[in-house]
Amino acid sequence: MKKQLIIFLLCLITLQLQALDRRIIRISTASTDLILQIGTNGRLYQSYLGPRLINETDINHFLNDETISACKWEAYPGSGMEDYFEPALGITHSDGNMTTLLKYISQEIHLIDSNTTETIIVLQDEVYPIEVKLHYMAFAKENVIKSWSEISHQEKKSITLFRYASTMLYFQNPHYFLTEFSGDWANEVNMTSQELQFGKKILDTKLGSRSAMHTQPFFQLGIGHPVTENEGLVLVGTIGWTGNFRFTFEVDNIGNLRVVPSINPYASHYELLPGKIFKTSEFIFTLSENGVGRASRQLHDWARRYQVKNGLGERLTLLNNWENTGFNFDEKILLNLIKEAQHLGVDMFLLDDGWFGNNYPRNNDRAGLGDWEPMTSKLPNGIAPLIDGAEKSGIKFGIWIEPEMINPKSDLFKKHPEWAIHQSNREPYYYRNQLVLDMSNPKVQDYVYNIVDHLMTRHPGIAFFKWDCNSPITNIYSPYLKNKQSQLYIDHARGVYTVWERIKEKYPDLSMMLCAGGGGRCDYEALKYFTEFWPSDDTDPVERIFIQWGFSQIFPSQVLCAHVTSWGKQSIKFRTDVAMMCKLGFDISISSLTPDEQTFCQEAVKNFKRLSPIILQGDLYRLVSPYKTNHAAVMHVGKDQQQAILYAYDLYPRFGESLIPVKLQGLDPTKNYKIEEINLMPRRRSSLKAQGKTYSGDYLMKVGIEVFTTNKTHSRILEITAL
Ligand code: DGJ
Repeated sequence: MKKQLIIFLLCLITLQLQALDRRIIRISTASTDLILQIGTNGRLYQSYLGPRLINETDINHFLNDETISACKWEAYPGSGMEDYFEPALGITHSDGNMTTLLKYISQEIHLIDSNTTETIIVLQDEVYPIEVKLHYMAFAKENVIKSWSEISHQEKKSITLFRYASTMLYFQNPHYFLTEFSGDWANEVNMTSQELQFGKKILDTKLGSRSAMHTQPFFQLGIGHPVTENEGLVLVGTIGWTGNFRFTFEVDNIGNLRVVPSINPYASHYELLPGKIFKTSEFIFTLSENGVGRASRQLHDWARRYQVKNGLGERLTLLNNWENTGFNFDEKILLNLIKEAQHLGVDMFLLDDGWFGNNYPRNNDRAGLGDWEPMTSKLPNGIAPLIDGAEKSGIKFGIWIEPEMINPKSDLFKKHPEWAIHQSNREPYYYRNQLVLDMSNPKVQDYVYNIVDHLMTRHPGIAFFKWDCNSPITNIYSPYLKNKQSQLYIDHARGVYTVWERIKEKYPDLSMMLCAGGGGRCDYEALKYFTEFWPSDDTDPVERIFIQWGFSQIFPSQVLCAHVTSWGKQSIKFRTDVAMMCKLGFDISISSLTPDEQTFCQEAVKNFKRLSPIILQGDLYRLVSPYKTNHAAVMHVGKDQQQAILYAYDLYPRFGESLIPVKLQGLDPTKNYKIEEINLMPRRRSSLKAQGKTYSGDYLMKVGIEVFTTNKTHSRILEITAL
């Protein structure tokens, strides 16, 4: 232990001395270098961001090379000086001056663990007492860097922040191609690409809560060429902010690109008191020289190991009742569903919306939000008999809440109208008949925290929460913030984090699903507090193939919930095979399935549980894109390359279409693998040519196997096992 400490301190000192000596700050992972340089003028510049340089000594060239120094890529440029493009920092000082110029003061390098270093660089303005700390956390093996900034000051009065980027990254290349992810309710993460030209491309959201409904908080950037799955240099970035965010991509007059991830400054000038720290959102990025496939795997590994709540832990398969019963249920119906869950073999029954509200019963989405007492007409004995019923059936019990929201038709609204974000002097605008509670108000934060805490205290048997959020902020006005309205978007999001932090602290092992009318919340800050999220209300399996393809670019299957429902009229096998690609659940009446369908589902659950270490923790390879063909194929490979799963889907193939064998990836070429089709309907035999055969990993990856058919909405799942 002592020896380790000495080695650690020596490393730290050496790193610091090296850096100070050379006026170079090198932030590295196993395959990326971000090189910053302190200019002779005392300002901090980015010299390089790209694949890691092999020769230490090459780094000195950055100090001497005039072309590179001429780029003047200031690491965190302030507004109002000689940089005429998007700044990282914008401050109106207490005297009204709008210029800020930061100079390098010091740096620290901390070894967080054997894989992670954190570099903190302190910058200050010589004219105004402003300090910015740039944080870069580098995860060596996963090749991920997380960066954020802390802004503070010692001016006599408060200052106003109007730009507060997490970080700033620069590239120099003749071409840049951006892939963005956008959509709407039940239509999330559509991937579209475009070449960036001179000027700005902005991806942003102004929805407040349910903030990622129209655009998701991540992007892919092809440096020099369009983004592809397995080739070329790409940057993949995502912002950890469960509120309004903004990515600015700006190509300047000489063709340099700057990438500016930030909390969206829209309607959000932020007053900062002397001595207080404004922490920006975290920006997480990875570079890959082998396309986005590798970038995804790097992010998945990082997320499971470092970011997601219980990221390496097990996940609960479940039966949910929303798509089956909607609001129409009672104790008897639910106890029957609990029996169905037991029969199916899943780990948990999840009770969805509609279980609460008495004076304003939650029998539809027009009333009840805010009144979190069980509805006596539906559940005269509360939820205790359901938890007992689940326990007796050997399964767990989970429950839906939407605690940040309020229906005007609720006891809570009658008691505390001032807790809702709304404007009493304007016509109200309701999104799904509800308003958003003002999470900037500490009393509201307590109230929201207590919804979970009271339920857990009264019913320690609750194993899972589905935390929904169905409305954006409308008619924005906080009675609590009074004349500081421009802080509401930010303080609201921070208030939500305060509550989540308290819940995580008290219930560190509680599994929680993040949901916002489908995938309206899907960011890595929220996932510090949630074990998984609900990507979309669209569970039509064909649509889901696209949605899962899109989210898989950033998130591992471990956090993507996928339920078998009655959306789409395809076979139960197709629907289940699509959901098997992520965290499997069901939201369907099991008793209305035929006996064969029920047997199939039971077997699928068993297969999923047996294979979940590979499905949820393995490496993902996207083999055939539904965007480019009439099919899709994806693979999960276990970390030891002993086992893999191949998912093959025929969507809408053309008549007479010629079918191309699928080349596998990620296997060990020197191993032999046996192929076995699983998830077959009872008494059905596999028609796969490769069924039961053995091939070398080399053959499977170079020649491939025939897995597609010309049948519409047809699927196959193959278990591939090393002998
Ligand atoms: C929206 C969610 O996405 C659904 O899964 C369901 O929980 C409903 N809300 C309930 O109101």
